[in-house]
This record gives sequence, C-alpha cells and structure tokens, in this order.
Amino acid sequence: MALVDSKKMFEMAYKNGYAVGAFNVNNMEITQGIISAIAEEKAPLILQISRGARAYASMSYLRGIIDVAVKENPDIPICMHLDHGDTFETCKQCVDDGFTSVMIDASHQPFEENIEVTRQVVEYAHARDVVVEAELGQLGGIEEDVVGVDPDDIAKNLTDPDQAIEFVQKTGCDSLAVACGTSHGAYKFKTEPKLAFDVIQAVAEKLPGFPLVMHGSSSVLKEFKDLINKYGGDMPDAMGVPEEAIGKAAKMAVCKINIDTDLRMALTAKIRQVFSEKPAEFDPRKYLGPGREAIKDMVVRKLRILGCSGKAGECM
Ligand code: G3H
Ligand code: 13P
Ligand code: ZN
Repeated sequence: MALVDSKKMFEMAYKNGYAVGAFNVNNMEITQGIISAIAEEKAPLILQISRGARAYASMSYLRGIIDVAVKENPDIPICMHLDHGDTFETCKQCVDDGFTSVMIDASHQPFEENIEVTRQVVEYAHARDVVVEAELGQLGGIEEDVVGVDPDDIAKNLTDPDQAIEFVQKTGCDSLAVACGTSHGAYKFKTEPKLAFDVIQAVAEKLPGFPLVMHGSSSVLKEFKDLINKYGGDMPDAMGVPEEAIGKAAKMAVCKINIDTDLRMALTAKIRQVFSEKPAEFDPRKYLGPGREAIKDMVVRKLRILGCSGKAGECM
C-alpha cells in the first residue's frame, strides 16, 4: 500500500471515538521505533515532519526511510504530514515532494490573513489530492522558531467556536488544530492544567463531523524527567497534559493528537542511562538501539491511550 491521506482515518476516528497518533520523525531510529509500535499494535499512523526535520535530515533521506516503512507494512495505513508549515511556499514544496497531508499554521497572523493563506494552500493541495490541516487560536510553548503565548495567557487565546465555523467555511481546510489549553515542548505548565473541553465541545457542535486536532499533547512524564536527571541531565520541573485528558479528548471530536516531546524524553533518558552505566561504550548501535526500543514502548503506551490500537484495518 502507498502512503495515504488522513481522510479515512479521521472518518473512522470520529465515528468510533478515538484519535490517530501523530508522531514527529527526524531520523531512522525514531521512525523505526514508531513503526515497530504501530506494527505490533495494528494502529493507523500519521508520521509528521517539521521544517526543522527537513533541514536536519533532508527530505530525500526521510522519504527513503518512510518508503521502506510503508513497503514493509502493507496492512497499516501511513500518512506523511507536514507539521507546522509556515508559508504557502513551504506547503507547496511539501505537496510537490509527495506529502499526503500538510499543515499550514498561520495562527499567529490576524484572522483574515490566516484565512487567506490557508485558502491558498487548500486550493493548491486539493488540486493534487493532498489534505490540509489549519490552526486557529494560539497555543503556549515553543514550536520551531515561534514562541507561543505565555503560560498565563493560554486561556485568553483559545479557539473561538464562532470564528472556527467561518474559518472552515471560508478556507475549505480538512481538519482544524484548536487551541484548547495545550502547549508545545517540555516546559508547558507549572501546575496541572485543565483542558478547555468546553471549547472542544462547542467547536464540535458548530462543526458536526469535522475532525479537530490537538497539538502540544505530550504529558512530560515525571518518571522520564527523573531518569534524565538521574543520569546527568538537567531538566527543570514542569507538567504536561495529563494522559487522562488526552484519552478524554480522543473520545470527542479530536481525531489527531500530536506527540513529540514524550518520545524525545524517552529516547534521551535511555541514551543517558547507557552512557552512565556503560561509560566505556562507544558503539552507536549500543545506545541508539535501546533508544529506539524506548521510543517503541512510549508509542505503544500512547496508542493505547488514544484508543487507536487495533484500528489499522478499518482505516484502510
Ligand atoms: O511542534 C513542534 C514539534 O515538536 C517539532 O519540533 O520543530 O523542533 O522539529 P521541531
Ligand atoms: P509536544 O511538544 O507536546 O509533544 O507537541 C508536539 C506537537 O504539537 C507537534 O506539532
Ligand atoms: Zn504542534
């Protein structure tokens, strides 16, 4: 099976009350870790590539790795998605590079400008059978080179449900990332956050059947932060989005949940542990291999929380 877009995944996720995991890839080990998890769990998958990932690994290497993953897993639907495209040109390039889904994130621009650039991307992408995710409202944290709103201001920048209808009608986008209290990165919140489920519900009521997306959904698990610090790291205390909240959103209109930081932390903790326990080790396979396993275990954990284990077949 070739790469697919996310239409069927979202249709089934919406109907059956789960969300598809969208995990960021930057190299072979991260991709293999994710792929072995979805192969074992039989889950649909969105592999997402940021501008930073394109710059780091180059698209031809990433594409080669993903092509092998697709070929070796013909019974799993895999979508290749651009994460946080910043301009029409970036999105156009990714459509031309064979992405099956792109995100245009103009959420930091004024409403009318966000509509205009999103509409342009939709026009270009749809003509080439590529689906488009857009964003309305602003998250906290840091993504790429854009600093999100201050943690104390997250609540003031949530998605406005009335604007959401106008935005979707005017742009024709296929899914919408909503600001509902989540935040990017490892330093999200000082205290346990409360997600704005009322915002998710209100947008869902105004746009029945329309798939929503939740970014910034890592839980920044204390056990992994503690491991990183135990083995020589220095990550300050911070809280993420509780896993129960992720599970609850997945049962609502949220059909795609973005997780990157928790995978990074799992990989880092494991590599640090090997370095610390076996200081004489210098064979990269001896730390990248366990790191890849740690990614796999983290993805299995997430897939079960999102409810998408065993759902690959119905999304084909
Ligand atoms: O939201 C951003 C993702 O975690 C990707 O991060 O831009 O550092 O690749 P990156
Ligand atoms: P986290 O930083 O919470 O993992 O979010 C990732 C994300 O939203 C990628 O788009
Ligand atoms: Zn994001």
